[in-house]
Amino acid sequence: MAHGAHATRDQNLDALQSILQEQYNPSNYQDSLEMIVQACQEAQHLYGYVSKDASALIAEHLGVSENRIYGLLTFYADFLTEPPGEHVMLLCHGAACYVMGSQKIVDHLDQRYDVRSGGTTRDGSLTVQVINGCLGVCDLAPVGQLDHERYCGHLDVEQFEALMESLRSSQPSEAPDDTE
Ligand code: FES
Repeated sequence: MAHGAHATRDQNLDALQSILQEQYNPSNYQDSLEMIVQACQEAQHLYGYVSKDASALIAEHLGVSENRIYGLLTFYADFLTEPPGEHVMLLCHGAACYVMGSQKIVDHLDQRYDVRSGGTTRDGSLTVQVINGCLGVCDLAPVGQLDHERYCGHLDVEQFEALMESLRSSQPSEAPDDTE
């Protein structure tokens, strides 16, 4: 299903194309549908987000519509469709975090930074993805996971602001860190 005409794309997608050609060879349409999420994960892993160009390449390779890919990208909260900021936070909005006040952080992000899930602060310091599932550390609720490596637990608006301040002044080591 794949072919090689990608001359109009802005982003260099050679690495993704190689992976698709080597590992994603559906034998029928159902196979193609089942490969979409994983192929998008490959793109996000390689580039930090799934660009329009990457979506188009995946669609072309798998023989599915770009609309179908876009639908999946917007359905799964952990995909980014724009380049991420310097840091990325997964903000847990699962049941325990919700009960403990994650909505206050979500509202604060919206009101103070005009950032909703998948958005990036204007200064580019932080991208936030609001995750409706559980991050598995409910004892830290409400909690955010920063840069996929450490947890910022028991977050309230003040702590979130302290974190933002540390990110802005490029001193991430001073950010609240509840990683054990
Ligand atoms: S619900 Fe947020 S960590 Fe479990």
